[in-house]
Amino acid sequence: MKTVFIAGANRGLGLELIKQYAQRGWNVIACCREINTDHALTLLVQNYPTVGIYSLDVLTQS
Ligand SMILES: NC(=O)c1ccc[n+]([C@@H]2O[C@H](COP(=O)([O-])OP(=O)(O)OC[C@H]3O[C@@H](n4cnc5c(N)ncnc54)[C@H](OP(=O)(O)O)[C@@H]3O)[C@@H](O)[C@H]2O)c1
Repeated sequence: MKTVFIAGANRGLGLELIKQYAQRGWNVIACCREINTDHALTLLVQNYPTVGIYSLDVLTQS
């Protein structure tokens, strides 16, 4: 199975890309700053088990 990493996954182009890849059977690493229980990304994951949601702020250093 192919894998894609997408940041900014909760809205806009990121959310649409996740949908497109998931529909094609890809394993999707979906990252967003705020993991919320009611937003569109969470609803999408319920339909596509190959999508995983992870917390990521690309400007935060650890
Ligand atoms: N070159 C082109 O022709 C072209 C065309 C269209 C878009 N773009 C670019 O493509 C990008 C996405 O466009 P869009 O319309 O989907 O924008 P958008 O709807 O504003 O979404 C931006 C996404 O980036 C996330 N984000 C912002 N700062 C972040 C950070 N520090 N760490 C992690 N995630 C962060 C946002 O998360 P939050 O919800 O947490 O803010 C949101 O998910 C933009 O940079 C836009 O300028 C380029």
